[in-house]
Amino acid sequence: MTLVNLSTVLKQAMQQGCAVGCFNMVDINSLEAIINGAVKLNSPVIVSVAEIHFPYVDIEKYSSVICHLANQASVPVVLHLDHGQTLDAIMKAMRHGFTSVMFDGSQLPLEENIARTTEIVRFAHAVGVSVEAELGHVGGAEGQSEVGDYDTGLLTDPLQAAAFVRSTGVDALAVAVGSAHGVYKRKPQLDFQRLTRIKELTDVPLVLHGGSGISDEDFRQSIACGIHKINVYTDLSLQANKAIKEALNENPGLAYPDIKAVARQAMEKVVMEKIKVFAAG
Ligand code: 13P
Repeated sequence: MTLVNLSTVLKQAMQQGCAVGCFNMVDINSLEAIINGAVKLNSPVIVSVAEIHFPYVDIEKYSSVICHLANQASVPVVLHLDHGQTLDAIMKAMRHGFTSVMFDGSQLPLEENIARTTEIVRFAHAVGVSVEAELGHVGGAEGQSEVGDYDTGLLTDPLQAAAFVRSTGVDALAVAVGSAHGVYKRKPQLDFQRLTRIKELTDVPLVLHGGSGISDEDFRQSIACGIHKINVYTDLSLQANKAIKEALNENPGLAYPDIKAVARQAMEKVVMEKIKVFAAG
């Protein structure tokens, strides 16, 4: 199966009333966990590399391996740049075979977010690459503890979302509706009314960031309200760490390749659990 772009898998998810899981890879081990999990469930999957993770994943060095593994999978795989904030990162991803990029201008003034997103959409579409943008701002930081929180002042405004999608031509829109990256300090309260209103006023698939720590019931309701792509990373990191600690406690002499296998299995389990919920809608 060849790599596909984001629009291809999200159009299908919209028709089927489900969501596609998007999981961050931080090395080849986590990439294999993500692809193996999706293949076992015969499900499409979005593999993403966040710009903040470039120090761990040098896409110039590893893109040929990443693309090769993705192309070999028996399921559709989207290779996506997560939270691209610089033109440099976006161009680098596109040059190295990514089929989808997120431009995150959510912390820019609205007019600048619109102008820069529109420009990126124009050249990404010219080479068949999909674009996700963010309006409002999802707070927190992936993979870190005790930072996941959100500022209700930054939730997405539905009318602004409609105008943003119309003028930029984006393929998917990340919305701030109460989720946050990282470990939640308190139970997330998703604003389903806001989400429903955004859905009514826009015609693109909506994206939920900060998927770690959200209940299955909230996932199901989000999907019913228009979410078709769900991002998860922190849970992969936490479960890999937990499994490594347990394995080393049990056997302090565990060899390095076996430690990697333990982490991979733990991440694969998370990927499969999430995909099952997302695919059921
Ligand atoms: P979590 O790390 O909170 O799961 O969020 C992942 C994410 O939204 C990546 O963009």
